[in-house]
Amino acid sequence: MVQSKRVAVFGAGYIGLVTGACLAELGHDVTVRDIDSEKIRLLRTVGEVPIYEPGLGDLIAQNKERLTFTLDAAEAVRDAEVVYVCVDTPPTSSGDADLSRVWAVIHAIREANPQDLAVLAVKSTVPVGTGERIRTALDETGLQRIRYAANPEFTAEGTAIHDFMHPDRIVVGTSDEATARLVTELHQGVHGPVEAIDIPSAEMVKLASNALLATKIAFINEIATVCEATGADVQSVAAAVGMDHRLGPHFLRAGLGYGGSCFPKDARALRAMASNSGYPFQLLNAVISVNELQPRRALLRLKNELGTLKRRKIALLGMTFKAGTDDMREAPSTIIASRLLAEGAQVQCWDPLARSAQEAPWNAAARHPSPAEAMTGADAAIVVTEWPQLKDLDWATVRHLMSRPVLFDGRNVLDPQSMRAAGFTYMSIGRP
Ligand code: UGA
Repeated sequence: MVQSKRVAVFGAGYIGLVTGACLAELGHDVTVRDIDSEKIRLLRTVGEVPIYEPGLGDLIAQNKERLTFTLDAAEAVRDAEVVYVCVDTPPTSSGDADLSRVWAVIHAIREANPQDLAVLAVKSTVPVGTGERIRTALDETGLQRIRYAANPEFTAEGTAIHDFMHPDRIVVGTSDEATARLVTELHQGVHGPVEAIDIPSAEMVKLASNALLATKIAFINEIATVCEATGADVQSVAAAVGMDHRLGPHFLRAGLGYGGSCFPKDARALRAMASNSGYPFQLLNAVISVNELQPRRALLRLKNELGTLKRRKIALLGMTFKAGTDDMREAPSTIIASRLLAEGAQVQCWDPLARSAQEAPWNAAARHPSPAEAMTGADAAIVVTEWPQLKDLDWATVRHLMSRPVLFDGRNVLDPQSMRAAGFTYMSIGRP
């Protein structure tokens, strides 16, 4: 039987909403607080979720008895036993994390002085040492009784609810056993082992995990480049390499590089953290520059094929940073569209879910409702996101809509032989 707790979650973004909905599903009483009044208005209307995450709308609706939304920080913390901090920590110009939203939560706690509050748990990705700074701030303002936990999140967009409920591990960083026990109890019903460690290590696990995943991607992209020069096929190489249980098959998909709100930001944050302590994290430097080069290399290959990109019409198939999300943050498509426009090309794009982006470069690109329309009259098409719809496209027919049948498969989702049989000049990443 789950011991129901009153929980306040600060931040109604991907992490906060998933955390709030999943904790409510586990039987807790949850109040989610955000500063965005439109978000809160939508959330109060059952079924309307301001972000795209499969299953989240249903989960929120099913748990509406135990899930409330508010703009009022004082109201959220007043009755809480546990406060979860899930606000974003964007990079500052020095590459450090901007913790102002985290400090705003601490401020709200101080103001409301909630008598039942036992634990402040941070899910936001923060530099190592943040927990200690927050501890000091709490102590200095007479809130010694509130205990601190670093409880980083490892869910991926698109599979976040499943990842929350079936994690590989729940990392609980605390400085005492009682706090670790309380955070563990909160997760009763979640299927995964608890790793109770100290606070700085828990903070580092999050950064190290994302950096290592980013390293795997950069590594396979480097292998892909060598494959292109030597005639090997990166898909076959990755499949066989991944069969070694010490290496594993995941995150070995070569492509246009990683994007999203986490890998680019966290890799830079870890690098900044290392640099600030006087240590240049060489390997991470290489990972970051391989990833920055990846879309540019693809465009160079396309330019060589077309002779020039100037006045060429290029169709971008997919805009989001990966399939299964509407998220455009740090998407490789943005670099690709910007570079194409800088070279004088015309950009025509398609994406089934991408949030409409008004700012550059998207304000200069035409968005179409289908891949076929985006490809009409194009001199080349680039598969930027691995949307499953693209696999089922009648490529032999759409080829005739294009001015020139050049196809650059930036995610290696199509079969080279079939594409060539359909009449395309087919290019991809790391395949002969
Ligand atoms: C990532 C991590 O996978 C989560 O564990 C973590 O909790 C999350 O960041 C976070 O820090 O909040 P997410 O950004 O949603 O999750 O997306 P991923 O599925 O990990 O993909 C990241 C990027 O890597 C995408 O652009 C994807 O296309 C790319 N990728 C992934 C590859 O290019 N190759 C691969 O083999 C795998």
